[in-house]
Amino acid sequence: MRLILLGPPGAGKGTQAKMLKEKFRIPQISTGDILRQAVKNNTELGLRAKAFMDAGQLVPDDVVISLIKERIWQEDCLTGFILDGFPRNIAQAEKLMETLVEMSLVINNVIDLEVDAKEVVERLTGRSTCSDCGDMFHEVSRPPKAKGFCDSCGGKLEQRRDDNSETIQERLKVYEQSTAPLKEFYRKQGNLKTVEAKGSAEEVFFHVCRMIK
Ligand code: AP5
Repeated sequence: MRLILLGPPGAGKGTQAKMLKEKFRIPQISTGDILRQAVKNNTELGLRAKAFMDAGQLVPDDVVISLIKERIWQEDCLTGFILDGFPRNIAQAEKLMETLVEMSLVINNVIDLEVDAKEVVERLTGRSTCSDCGDMFHEVSRPPKAKGFCDSCGGKLEQRRDDNSETIQERLKVYEQSTAPLKEFYRKQGNLKTVEAKGSAEEVFFHVCRMIK
């Protein structure tokens, strides 16, 4: 199965991708996670991406496209993968299609997670992530047992640099301008399924699974 998760910042793409990865035993490919790791490690990729990410802007297409091309050719992607945060605009979607044609593969599912802007702001301002294992928490919907520390590994919880009100507004703007048109792109291909991403993560997961071909 090859699946794309679409949706605005904070829609729950990462949360759902992690649950899908467990259920279907295929890798989650999150461009955001790959880029954040590169920033943390001060790699050339990270140095190039950091300013864009901090400003809530998209990292240039050539950077993320080559990153994805390299990743989906890896052996663990042979049985499928979940794309979380890619593609982010029509140019990226077209490049992805070209690459998959070269590999004689297709995308079988595109799931759009719908949430309103108010919910996005609540989800993102309340989010914290483990600096060691990447597990994710929310001060209301999934509070950690010990404040500031990860339930899974005891690591320190951090707030993402781009989860501040100003950058969230910019990310929402970028989503509307560049990413939302992908809904029409995939609708025309007959692939798009929409899930109202309200309710608990488990409830959303139930609806996502029902949509999967
Ligand atoms: P990226 O990391 O992809 O961020 P995003 O799209 O803004 O999405 P988020 O990770 O913030 O949210 P999410 O939808 O995954 O929600 P989550 O599950 O975490 O990108 C970051 C940056 O990297 C971009 O701005 C850009 O600069 C760059 N970038 C990445 N990909 C790129 C690309 N392809 N091209 C160019 N640039 C790129 O959930 C959020 C919170 O809500 C959590 O606390 C969670 O616990 C909680 N939550 C989840 N589900 C529920 C629920 N059902 N009910 C209540 N709370 C919930």
